Amino acid sequence: MVALGSDHGGYALKQEVIKYLQENNIEYKDFGCYSEESCDYPVYAKKVANAIVSGECEKGILICGTGIGISIAANKVKGIRAALCHDTFSAQATREHNDANILAMGARVVGTGLALKIVDTFLNTAFSNDERHIRRIEQIES
Ligand code: RB5
Repeated sequence: MVALGSDHGGYALKQEVIKYLQENNIEYKDFGCYSEESCDYPVYAKKVANAIVSGECEKGILICGTGIGISIAANKVKGIRAALCHDTFSAQATREHNDANILAMGARVVGTGLALKIVDTFLNTAFSNDERHIRRIEQIES
């Protein structure tokens, strides 16, 4: 299950991500927001982060205008490794090296086509399970 969240700046791109997930039969839960009315990104970052930490969802996708605020907020939750990615190389690397559990993007930074490629890469790349990467992730958490 993929947890989704955005503020008003990310709402339209989140709708495109939802279409992508539906077309690919990927289960998701949309934690809001639900319109383009102005709202506060930390609210949605925390809802998605908590869904992952509790085990309700395995991964999350967070979108705001830049992706910056929403990723900073998500990373305040223990156990969350939110990666702000605007290219597929980073999306692949953060799954392989950091076992990132949230992808953050900025809707005012990337176009829909690239954003969906980034989502596809993030969701379809496994963690390397390499001992050195496990060690480094453990150091983040301690
Ligand atoms: C909202 O205007 C904007 O500040 C927000 O979407 C995000 O870019 C914050 O980091």
